[in-house]
Amino acid sequence: MNVQTTHSADATTVEAALAADNQHAVIDSETATQVAMSNTLLTPRFYTTDFDEMDAIDVTPVRADWDQLIAQMKADPNKGHFKKNEDWDHIDWDGMEPGLRAEFIDFLISSCTAEFSGCVLYKEMKRRGSNSDITTLFQLMARDEARHAGFINDALREAGIAVNLGFLTQKKKYTYFRPKFIYYATYLSEKIGYARYITIFRHLEQHPEHRFHPIFKWFREWCNDEFSHGEAFALLMKTDPKLTSGRNVWWIKFFLTAVYGTMYVRDHQRPKFHAALGVEPDWYAQEVFRKTSEISRQVFPITLDIDHPRWMPTLKRLQKANADLAAAQKKTGFARLAGKLSGSARAALAFASLYTIPAKRHDVPVETRLEPAY
Ligand SMILES: [Fe+2]
Ligand SMILES: [Fe+2]
Repeated sequence: MNVQTTHSADATTVEAALAADNQHAVIDSETATQVAMSNTLLTPRFYTTDFDEMDAIDVTPVRADWDQLIAQMKADPNKGHFKKNEDWDHIDWDGMEPGLRAEFIDFLISSCTAEFSGCVLYKEMKRRGSNSDITTLFQLMARDEARHAGFINDALREAGIAVNLGFLTQKKKYTYFRPKFIYYATYLSEKIGYARYITIFRHLEQHPEHRFHPIFKWFREWCNDEFSHGEAFALLMKTDPKLTSGRNVWWIKFFLTAVYGTMYVRDHQRPKFHAALGVEPDWYAQEVFRKTSEISRQVFPITLDIDHPRWMPTLKRLQKANADLAAAQKKTGFARLAGKLSGSARAALAFASLYTIPAKRHDVPVETRLEPAY
């Protein structure tokens, strides 16, 4: 029998990457899809925005950098990369310690949803737009995210799990964000994604004995894609100085605090996963914040003061409040109500305390473009 198989890694467009055979799991795992469907403050969301406003962006002020970045993305150095090859080691899923297995699967599902969330947003921008600079960029980014999501689904499938991406597209709730909020949030999530993956990759280069799954070997090229996506959003923000000045600096501070705080809380929900990697979560968080802050200086006029005496203790309080909140959800009656009220109030106070730590100001460099340096 001659079976034609296509893989998202080899696709050159987002449409082909989503239609590839590996995206269509034989096993449609209901629980995994349900996890991906959930919408809480801590789970990856799907976004929609004012596509006409985004389509109207004129990239003339950053033309030279823009053309160079697009040419680099079109050259597609990672074509064919995101699929299993001889470096993919066999994983004994049944032999994995159950707690680690559960946290690792949760990590993969949440990463797959986040990748796919980017894919859906970028693909929609490409579909709705008529500005060729913008549609070209979004087509290229959607292509990358579809490959990333497809590769994670390959890894999940070995554990007998798959996230139904078609179902998610149709049924998951979409959150509306104004274009400027999409820039801040998406820029940061691309750059923090880079910082997270490269930190794990470099750590495992030093400590290969902690590499308990082969997917980590793919993280360097992976995060280079995310780095380029972040560069594109930095250039988009540079086209309009108002986006990164005046009152908008308060919004930037809000998104920085929210993105860092969410990462901290979410990572602390996976202690076994981090222990297996040999990574201490507080060290990892600060390391990722430091890299992300250093990079985001390219376009944001402030960075958060992550060495402030209030920073780490307040993050811990935020994390504790969220853990208590999650515990209260499992209770009933008055205990549930009281636990939820107290947890939410303490989480809100902790967030406000983080937000009011004075930020560090600096002059944004004239030259925006950066290369991945970690
Ligand atoms: Fe991605
Ligand atoms: Fe990305």
